[in-house]
Amino acid sequence: MKIRSPIVSVLGHVDHGKTTLLDFIRGSAIAQREAGGITQHIGATEIPMDVIDNIGGDLLKKLDIRETLPGLFFIDTPGHEAFTTLRKRGGALADLAILIVDSNEGFKPQTYEALNILKMCKTPFVVAANKIDKIYGWETNKGLSFLETYNKQPRSVQEKLDNNIYELVGILHEEGFESERFDRVQNFARQISIIPISAKTGEGIAELLAMLMGLAQQYLKEQLQIETDSPAKGTILEVKEETGLGVTVDAVIYDGILKKKDTIALTTDKEIITTKIRSLLKPRPLEEMRESKKRFKKVDEVVAAAGIKIVAPNIEDVMSGSPLRVAGKDFNKVKEEILSEIESIQIDTDEMGVTVKADTLGSLEALVNMLKAMEVPIRVADIGDVSRRDVFDTNIVQKENPLYGVIIAFNVKVLPSAMEEIKSSNLKLFSANVIYQLTEDYKEWMDAAEE
Ligand code: GTP
Ligand code: MG
Ligand code: NA
Repeated sequence: MKIRSPIVSVLGHVDHGKTTLLDFIRGSAIAQREAGGITQHIGATEIPMDVIDNIGGDLLKKLDIRETLPGLFFIDTPGHEAFTTLRKRGGALADLAILIVDSNEGFKPQTYEALNILKMCKTPFVVAANKIDKIYGWETNKGLSFLETYNKQPRSVQEKLDNNIYELVGILHEEGFESERFDRVQNFARQISIIPISAKTGEGIAELLAMLMGLAQQYLKEQLQIETDSPAKGTILEVKEETGLGVTVDAVIYDGILKKKDTIALTTDKEIITTKIRSLLKPRPLEEMRESKKRFKKVDEVVAAAGIKIVAPNIEDVMSGSPLRVAGKDFNKVKEEILSEIESIQIDTDEMGVTVKADTLGSLEALVNMLKAMEVPIRVADIGDVSRRDVFDTNIVQKENPLYGVIIAFNVKVLPSAMEEIKSSNLKLFSANVIYQLTEDYKEWMDAAEE
């Protein structure tokens, strides 16, 4: 029997501060480096308990659960409307969640969407009312607890904040949840705690972590115990070539244990394959899995929840966003499980339409959703770099209907041989690493072409 880290998903509307909150906890600056200023993939970071302790301070001391937990495993999700599946996946993985709302803007479409995911999954959550430092007249006290900084604010500023919180309480009530500012909550089983914070200055984050740990203590004590032989379940974040290691996959393990001697089942664009693990490499704590740079530690096994880099043969064509399972004895059952998970993200295509390429299943689906909303027919939707074959096939389409003789590529390379082919053809290539820019560029071009 082992105790695993709770998975804490951070959900909310675009730009309400999810990544910045995790940046504060990690001591990093990832949000500033994101293309287009938005998160477009699921992120994952393990935060050891001593870091939580340091930020939470005295507020955490009376919770005995912190002695048994290795840490918290945070999942960052995209707030942009296109990424519904990644939000759902992030929400479904979660043991606990932080619903983050810009306290000056209040609920927005994806805040409602995230709340519904939590409702459906029955995930215990707290509400972080973010960006309190933007309230007019707010006097920043870096890193102080909410109550300390609140008591230092002028009366008018306190009132403005109180009003913002009341509005959140009102909306949550309409949505079927009783809630209060955390220090006024009387019954934690019945009321949702709202913690005013600033992800930028750190004000209130001590209480946010304390309330989160309180939820863990109340709801998760049993759920976090796992058998030491329960086979791992996970999701592939990325397939990467690493110098000295060859091709590796980065995965999030959300259930069970993955052992170095395991054979795992993975999915390529064509089939489900099995492969024997060569080594398991754990990123350092506090590192965002997507950003970790070779500073890994070799391990013999890894317990959920965790991020892990896996070295194994024949994994070049594994799809990002696809499931990972331990192959075990009953391979047919594992296959079925994988197929049903993949089918839920299968994409319907049309006979005639544009060619779409993207780097992961989640981003491919987001792009397809956006194009469908624009009523753009899609002939091919695939994961991976733009290849010569893509260009050949799209060229055939181009001759029939120039409007669809188009390749729309998100966050992938255009292979040199494909690029040559494109130059000597009439097809149009849209390539970018910000998803909404692609759809906007395509729309602009289409409108001009139709005239
Ligand atoms: P997506 O992942 O794209 O949905 O956005 P996000 O929710 O991760 O928001 P992000 O962390 O990217 O923050 C959006 C912008 O708000 C950035 O410019 C941040 O610096 C800013 N921001 C976030 N939190 C705060 C805060 O508490 N105070 C202030 N003043 N700005 C903040
Ligand atoms: Mg973000
Ligand atoms: Na953002």
